[in-house]
Amino acid sequence: MSKISAFIFDLDGVITDTAEYHYLAWKRLADEEGLPFSREDNEALRGVSRRESLVRLLKGKVLPEPQMEAYMARKNEYYRAFLAQITPANLLEGVADFLAQARAHGIKLGLGSASKNARDVLKGLGITDQFDAIGDGYSVSRTKPAPDLFVWVAGRLNVPPAECVVFEDAEAGVAAARECGMYTVGIGDPARVGAADIVLPNLAGVQVSDLLGKLANITH
Ligand code: BG6
Ligand code: MG
Repeated sequence: MSKISAFIFDLDGVITDTAEYHYLAWKRLADEEGLPFSREDNEALRGVSRRESLVRLLKGKVLPEPQMEAYMARKNEYYRAFLAQITPANLLEGVADFLAQARAHGIKLGLGSASKNARDVLKGLGITDQFDAIGDGYSVSRTKPAPDLFVWVAGRLNVPPAECVVFEDAEAGVAAARECGMYTVGIGDPARVGAADIVLPNLAGVQVSDLLGKLANITH
């Protein structure tokens, strides 16, 4: 019987849907610079760091470092203008209830997001104080699919990785969690998160007790 002591949540695509804002911000930059960039291109950027997103958007074009920095800063400025509009209404359906249930079960809660804006997003959503540990784009240098961020969060929670469940909507995030022996719940399209132990469309109506029951039957 597996022991589960902590849940670690990705932010973008699991707790709230900021993917559209990331898309609009990259799209504005791409349009201004005459670079082709579609919604489909944006899907491939889920969970990918800001720098790696720009590298992929450039599709092989190489820019000097100062220009890379300037593009990233501009995209972030556009993105942050959207963040200013975030309120608790931007929590995805079922998230508030799921976090409350987990707390009631005595499960520690952590955040493991690649975003350097994660704390501001949590603040807008009004859920910062729900988390016992917050790992963001500043916490580690190697980004997902490296396991470093989730290991860092588990350390802060003082829980062994084998007792953690990671909730992720990105392929790279599921891979990162599996790499360090954590349980994985994939949220969304099975084409992206099919490698997870359990795949759910979202957290709406999900009962923590049911989920723990299903995870107890899974051995790694
Ligand atoms: C991830 C998003 O959470 O954070 C990516 O899924 C984003 O789309 C990455 O590029 C980095 O975010 P930020 O806010 O540091 O640019
Ligand atoms: Mg995500």
